[in-house]
Amino acid sequence: MKQTIEYIIVCCIGLIFSIPVAFKIVVSVFTQGLKTIKGVNYRSRPRILTDPRFGKSSYLHLKDITLHCIENGDPRKPLLLLVHGFPEFWFSWRHQLDSDLAKNYRIVAIDMRGYGDSDKPRGVENYRIEKLVEDIRQAINSLGYDKCYLAGHDWGGAVVWSFAMAHPGMVTKLAVLNCPHPVAFQTYIRSNLTQFLKSWYMFFFQLPCFPEWLITRQDLVSMDIALKGVVNQQELDAFKYTFSSATALTGPINFYRAAFRYPSRGAEGGSRKQLTVPTMLVFGANDKYITQEAAKLSGKYCSQMEFQLVPQASHWVQQDAPDQVNRLLIRFFGSSSGGEDDSGDDLRESASAAVRRGLDAAKDIKDGVREDVGQLLGDLNEH
Ligand SMILES: *[C@@H]1O[C@H](CO)[C@@H](O)[C@H](O)[C@H]1NC(C)=O
Repeated sequence: MKQTIEYIIVCCIGLIFSIPVAFKIVVSVFTQGLKTIKGVNYRSRPRILTDPRFGKSSYLHLKDITLHCIENGDPRKPLLLLVHGFPEFWFSWRHQLDSDLAKNYRIVAIDMRGYGDSDKPRGVENYRIEKLVEDIRQAINSLGYDKCYLAGHDWGGAVVWSFAMAHPGMVTKLAVLNCPHPVAFQTYIRSNLTQFLKSWYMFFFQLPCFPEWLITRQDLVSMDIALKGVVNQQELDAFKYTFSSATALTGPINFYRAAFRYPSRGAEGGSRKQLTVPTMLVFGANDKYITQEAAKLSGKYCSQMEFQLVPQASHWVQQDAPDQVNRLLIRFFGSSSGGEDDSGDDLRESASAAVRRGLDAAKDIKDGVREDVGQLLGDLNEH
C-alpha cells in the first residue's frame, strides 16, 4: 500500500515535470517549425561500430536472454567486465577496450538487456534490478570465470554496485564511474533539492510513451545535446544509429520505470551492509545529473572506497577523459599484483594515447573527405 501511494506520487511529479517539457516543444514548433517534432532519420550502420581496434563482437547465450558484447584483450588473462549507462551501449567503453588494459585483461563490454544488439524483452518487470544483476552473474559464468574485475558507469554503475553487494565473492575489484551507491543516492535525492531537480528526468520517465517520443524527436536531438563536446560526429552517428529503431529506447527507459515500480528489496536490508569489495569511485566533476555530494556519501557504505575526482570531465567521464580514467583503472586494478604506479609507464601511456588520438583525428578527416568526394560524384552523376 505504502509503495503504491509512493508510486502515484512519483507519477504526479513526472506529470508536473512534463508541463515545462511540453511547453518548450510547443514554443519550438512556433519558432523553428514542424521539423522539431519529426522523428529519426534512417541511417546505415556506421563503420566505427565494427572497427577491429575495439575488439570482436559476440553473443552470450544466458538462461533466458542473449546479450551482445564486444571483447578485446588477452583471453588467458583475468576478466574485466564493463557495464555501460543510459542511453549508451558497449561503445561508451571504446577508449578502454582499445587501451593498455587489453594487455593484462580479457575485456568484455556488454550491451545490457534492452540495449543495442542484446535481447529486448517486453514489459517493465523484465528490467527490475534483480534481473539486471542476474544477467551479470550469468555473463561472468558463461565467459568461463567465477570472479572478475568489474566496472560500471551511470546505470551500469547502479547495476555493478548491486551486483557487488549481492555477490561480493565474484568481484575482485569494483570500479564505479559517475554513479553513487544506490542507498546513498536514494537518501540524498529525498533530502537535497539540488539533486532532486537534477534527477527530474527520472520522474518524467515514469510516464508512458512521451519520454521515448521526446528523446527521438528531431532526429534524436537530445543525443546531440547530451553528448555535445564528448564525441565526434562519427561517434555521435554510432549512438544515433543504435537508438534509431522504434523499440530501441523502451527497454532503456524501462530501467527507470522498474526502479520506481519495483524498488530493490536489497535497499531495506542487504545493501545497508558494508560493501567489503575494494572499490574505486571515479567522478567527472562537471556532472549535470549527479551531485558530487551524493557520490561522496557512497563511502559510508563501503569498507574500502577510494574517491577519484576527475576535474573538467563531464558525466560521460570515460569518454570525456579516457586517458585519465584508463590510468586510474590500470593503477587501481593492478595494485594488488604489484603493478605500482610508475611515472615512466604513465608518460609512455599518455604519449601513445596522444598518438592514437592524432591518428583518430586524421582518420576522421580522411573519412570526411571520402564522404565529400562520394557526395560530389553522386551529385555529378545526377546531372
Ligand atoms: C544540496 O546539494 C547542493 C549541491 O550538491 C549543496 O550545494 C546544497 O547545500 C545541498 N543542500 C542541502 C539542503 O543539503
